[in-house]
Amino acid sequence: MNKIIVLTSGGDAPGMNAALRALVRSGVHFGLEVFGCQQGFQGIIDQKLIPLFPENVANCIQTGGTLLKADRCQAFYEKETRDRCRAFLEKNRIDGMVVLGGNGSFCGASLLSQESGGKLAVIGIPCTIDNDIPGTEYTIGFDTARNNALQAIDKIRDTASSHYRHFLVEVMGRNAGFLAVDVGIAGGAEIILIPEFEPSLEKIAQKLSQRRQSKLSAIIVVAEANQPGRSIQMAEKLHHLTQQPFRVCVLGHIQRGGSPSAQDRSLASAMGYLAIQALRNGESHQMVAFRNDHLSLYPFPAADHPPRIFQQKDLLEMNDILCS
Ligand code: F6P
Repeated sequence: MNKIIVLTSGGDAPGMNAALRALVRSGVHFGLEVFGCQQGFQGIIDQKLIPLFPENVANCIQTGGTLLKADRCQAFYEKETRDRCRAFLEKNRIDGMVVLGGNGSFCGASLLSQESGGKLAVIGIPCTIDNDIPGTEYTIGFDTARNNALQAIDKIRDTASSHYRHFLVEVMGRNAGFLAVDVGIAGGAEIILIPEFEPSLEKIAQKLSQRRQSKLSAIIVVAEANQPGRSIQMAEKLHHLTQQPFRVCVLGHIQRGGSPSAQDRSLASAMGYLAIQALRNGESHQMVAFRNDHLSLYPFPAADHPPRIFQQKDLLEMNDILCS
């Protein structure tokens, strides 16, 4: 292993820069030449390799977003595009690649590596605020996003209780409810709605009307469930069912921004370091995963493997009791 490329793909996630810093610094320390590709796979398509040195990643551990920029690259799903990319990487004697991203990004990287006949090794670092990558219990960005959303909920609680109002607060997460459940429990949300276990609006209306007289405001955390903005329609229907007003706050991309949390920075640093060690040890087609309290390598999910979904229904039952 001599020359590697690194790229950040999919939606940005806070902590990506901390992982880039770890990749560049440990890569250079162990004698590798490290190059960055801008805007994810698009950077390979554009045939631009940016040499990266330790000084290029100075003062970035605390920053959100990604220094390398990110994108969701549809063109990379075409074999012909990948063939051109492979030829370009071979010509430049690139023998390793670290992809920071989620399920789709790992799939693209895996195909490129397979088609190279083993000449290009690939290691993934799971980065997404959704925490929905099979094989790892935590992804980089998730902790910062849940703290961002929690801060917003605390603020909404002030105004909700001052006016005896119900609020629907919509959080991201794509098809998974991980973000909504963590934020809902930590924010004392009276109701948490996630796609994996969602009661009917009639049941929610009934639940709100049966609450103690002393609880006249409520926070309902709604997972976007791949339909961003769905809480607006829900609020209208709940109003119709209860005759009470509902306010809506869609938190949106604010959840993905800002300085990464301590957990995301240290996870990203350790994952970046381990990814370099994995390449040096001749590993490929694996991601760095957090499982049972420690980091290890885990095979990339198969291309047709569905994203991870939330399964701990007992946590929702617990929340019902704690918020009654
Ligand atoms: O996958 C991360 C994520 O923030 C999801 O939670 C959200 O559904 C999606 O990306 C938004 O995508 P975009 O930034 O392309 O609008």
